Amino acid sequence: MTEPASSGFPAVRPRRLRSSPAWRRLTAETRLDPAMLVLPLFVREGADRPVPITSMPGVVQHSLDSLRAEISRAAAAGLGGVMLFGVPETKDAVGSGATDPDGILNVATRLAVAEAGDALVVQTDLCLDEFTDHGHCGVLGAGGRVDNDASLERYRAMALAQADAGAHLLGLSGMMDGQVAAVRETLDAAGHPDVALLGYAAKYASAFYGPFREAVQSSLVGDRRTYQLDPANRREGAREVALDLAEGADIVMVKPAMSYLDVLADAAAASPVPVWAYQVSGEYAMIEAAAAHGWIDRERAVAESVTSIVRAGADAVLTYWALELAEGMRR
Ligand code: PBG
Repeated sequence: MTEPASSGFPAVRPRRLRSSPAWRRLTAETRLDPAMLVLPLFVREGADRPVPITSMPGVVQHSLDSLRAEISRAAAAGLGGVMLFGVPETKDAVGSGATDPDGILNVATRLAVAEAGDALVVQTDLCLDEFTDHGHCGVLGAGGRVDNDASLERYRAMALAQADAGAHLLGLSGMMDGQVAAVRETLDAAGHPDVALLGYAAKYASAFYGPFREAVQSSLVGDRRTYQLDPANRREGAREVALDLAEGADIVMVKPAMSYLDVLADAAAASPVPVWAYQVSGEYAMIEAAAAHGWIDRERAVAESVTSIVRAGADAVLTYWALELAEGMRR
């Protein structure tokens, strides 16, 4: 009996390139860079110090002073941008605070733009829900239904207020039909052709927005299923992306991120403009909560989740971990 000669079987050994940290680093297909991360920030009217958000441990409602400090930290960490949400003291049926130049979001935007200089893209949330007493993303019409075209008129006015405040990019998250075209038309007519538009093209009616409702003290009763997309629908996500592109969106968004990576991959394959993804409050809260119980390795889960979003095709990611990730990369 002779020993069988070494056959070299198997001929293909993918494990070679996984065999050391150096190999894995050199062969990684996806890399995170601070410049592709955008940090969402909440700013609370009348706050004299940051107020913690219980369901989002580590995230706060900023005062104007703490906002200024966070923006300079974001710039120092090399983030791509920041995204501002206002939490007004008073709300009404049409969301008047959204169009008031002295409303909290517009005040915060002026401050953020001044603080950011050339270092960051300052983005604002262009949606009425933080400002309406019924908590919907538009104004209500007959039977309490959100009136699409009346809401567009409010978005036009809100866009003007945000552009006047100096915002570089408007995040159109209301999910009304025709919102990108309406806002583009208004901005161009008003001499704001350089303000960019991010269309929240594929924004789903998601349970993962839960903690955000606390973050902005939403008064919503019911849900947004008559205007946000049904989580069951992939093709419809692609249709909304195509519509926002046709209406002139400079960037399109898929939101939430982790449960919609198929929609994101579709958008990345089809879009001639950048595709961003929003890792939303519930995605943040799930990982933080599991980590707090010691059930998952927090740092690895955070990095893996954001990496998977970029792997699926996102050019940039809005994530509440943006600063932590960016500061970690600089170490
Ligand atoms: C609407 C808006 C929402 C979020 C961002 N913009 C809530 C919603 O549509 O119900 C959610 C973001 C998050 O959960 O982190 N203006």
